[in-house]
Amino acid sequence: MTTHPAPEAVDMSEAFVHGAAKVVPPPTLEVRDLSHTFERGTANEVRALSDVNLTLAPGDFVTVVGMNGSGKSTLLNAVAGAFLPDSGQILLDGEDVTRQGEFRRACHVGRVFQDPLKGTAPNLTVAENLSLALDRTRNPFVLRWALTGSRRAELRERVRTLQLGLEDRLDTRIGMLSGGERQALTLLMATLVKPSLLLLDEHTAALDPRSVEQVVKLTERVVSSQRLTTLMVTHSMHQAVQLGDRVLMMHRGRVVREIRGREKQQLRVENLLATFDQLRSMELLDESAADMLRRLYV
Ligand SMILES: Nc1ncnc2c1ncn2[C@@H]1O[C@H](COP(=O)(O)OP(=O)(O)O)[C@@H](O)[C@H]1O
Ligand SMILES: [Mg+2]
Repeated sequence: MTTHPAPEAVDMSEAFVHGAAKVVPPPTLEVRDLSHTFERGTANEVRALSDVNLTLAPGDFVTVVGMNGSGKSTLLNAVAGAFLPDSGQILLDGEDVTRQGEFRRACHVGRVFQDPLKGTAPNLTVAENLSLALDRTRNPFVLRWALTGSRRAELRERVRTLQLGLEDRLDTRIGMLSGGERQALTLLMATLVKPSLLLLDEHTAALDPRSVEQVVKLTERVVSSQRLTTLMVTHSMHQAVQLGDRVLMMHRGRVVREIRGREKQQLRVENLLATFDQLRSMELLDESAADMLRRLYV
């Protein structure tokens, strides 16, 4: 079965410009009916993803919230290709990459993790780390070029955009920098060559409050200036409200709510917290109902 829209669904003014067919780009990310169970058949079995569907058009900025263990990181890991899901499909720029390895997808996907130690090589300098990031273009000469004259000047300019004064510390080992500075650099590295998709997994969760603010502002700036398609997991309701144009709420491996458009614009932290409370009370209800059934049948 094809999934193309019916002809009447196509806006002709959009599809044709001056009589010539205009190419309508595919979604940057499409997740279709994605499910995955870890440790199947053991006492630790957990259905981490359950029929997840998600579409990000070019330029979409989506935040993902949910309680611990709700499947947020698993969703990002699946998109990045860290494991092969049990069922469903993942498409990047219209290409089915479900079975493609993490390494191949890395050319198109930029990532920043929670742990500032994870995204950079501590024993290499700022300039060397950035040169490695440029390597994503897969040009074997890039590394050598990057450390000479004009490339170094170009890198310095990119680092200056972070507004942290790190442009004067290009030869400092990254291990000497603070967590906030490292996350800022990791974000720069992930976007130095514009990725199709940027994945952020609680990238401010391990930082002190001042650094959180810096990295959040930087994220906003980088995403909007490059118009990056972004999927950002956050533990912070404030960030989910403040950033992005859509919020997904995950619960037990499912997307249980999607807040977009006007509702997103008017969203407040209290609204999100109330939804969480609702989910929690439903859990309690489930538990007591299950308990009652157990008592009835045993
Ligand atoms: N590699 C793994 N092996 C076994 N269980 C896993 C693995 N990764 C995640 N899980 C489990 O899947 C569930 C979802 O985890 P995760 O996606 O990390 O949650 P979140 O990021 O929302 O806190 C949790 O119960 C977690 O313990
Ligand atoms: Mg997580």
